[in-house]
Amino acid sequence: MRILSGIQPSGALHIGNYFGMMRPAVALQAEGEALYFIADYHALTTVRDPQALRENSRRVALDFLACGLDPERATLFRHSDVPQVTELAWILSAVAPMGLFERAHSYKDKLARGMAATVGLFSYPILMAADILIYDSDIVPVGKDQKQHIEMTRDLAVKMNETFGQSEPDGRIFKLPEPRIQAATETVPGIDGQKMSKSYGNNIDIFSDEKEMRKRVMSIVTDSTPVDAPKDPANSTIFKLYSLVASKEEIADMRERFLKGGTGYGDFKKRLFEKLWEYFAPMRKRREEILNDKSYIDDVLARGAKRANELANQVMERVRAAVGLR
Ligand code: TYM
Repeated sequence: MRILSGIQPSGALHIGNYFGMMRPAVALQAEGEALYFIADYHALTTVRDPQALRENSRRVALDFLACGLDPERATLFRHSDVPQVTELAWILSAVAPMGLFERAHSYKDKLARGMAATVGLFSYPILMAADILIYDSDIVPVGKDQKQHIEMTRDLAVKMNETFGQSEPDGRIFKLPEPRIQAATETVPGIDGQKMSKSYGNNIDIFSDEKEMRKRVMSIVTDSTPVDAPKDPANSTIFKLYSLVASKEEIADMRERFLKGGTGYGDFKKRLFEKLWEYFAPMRKRREEILNDKSYIDDVLARGAKRANELANQVMERVRAAVGLR
């Protein structure tokens, strides 16, 4: 089984990235051949500062390694170290129906937030399909916001198989990948209760310093229920985030205190901050260790690029032959 996922280096990683994708991705390392990449080609659609893109790419590698990615088991690489994906994206774009991509939520959402409509932003899901199909991926661990992109990938794979698959031994060029979305963490809320996202400015970063993390947690938006009154845990961002990091008993205790009344949101936020800070302590420690090893990240990325290229080249040979480029 081959597992693949990517993450954009468009800023510091937040706990939505961690619980939605990185933690499941780390768990899947034990179940098959895992390939995880830093999607720098994708980040070009929004980042305009070359130095920042380079630095963020290294930082994502560092953070992912600190969060448990084991380079002895999984392959970690930079998207742009496998430029064949852009060739595959072009081939896919030749069969990609416009209507399918005009319906993309993430594109419409970005325009609604005032981003300039570029061709890159529009065809982003085609590059993402190439990212997945070029490694014959079976499973793609992602948060819910990426679900539609995986569906589009499957649609494109079917279209390619129907159009060019006849001469293949099993009648198809591409495997159909499956998204792997964890129900409990499919959409981690940000401090305003909406989906946590760097671009919404509602993020709590995994590796921010203590003061900053406390400040972000203390600014979680709450309703105006008085201290004494019972509160609704199901609709509380504090409770939802606490449930990600606390033990069963601790979660049950917080639920009880919500329902009973008598505890203010400020106290619940303090408990949440303590738990979050404690949860990420081993990862902060690992991050420091990696930072002290000057060549570690470069070595991991160089090995990753080599392995990813081997796999991508095999698939590209097949694709070029099937469409008539060889
Ligand atoms: P990106 O960089 O926006 O996010 C990386 C991963 O984090 C997940 N995620 C969340 N999950 C739950 N709750 C949240 N609030 C939250 N915020 C982010 C995302 O779902 C994602 O899994 N297009 C992708 C990167 C990509 C990719 C790929 C992924 C490029 N090519 C191929 C899989 C396969 C993206 O922008 O993710």
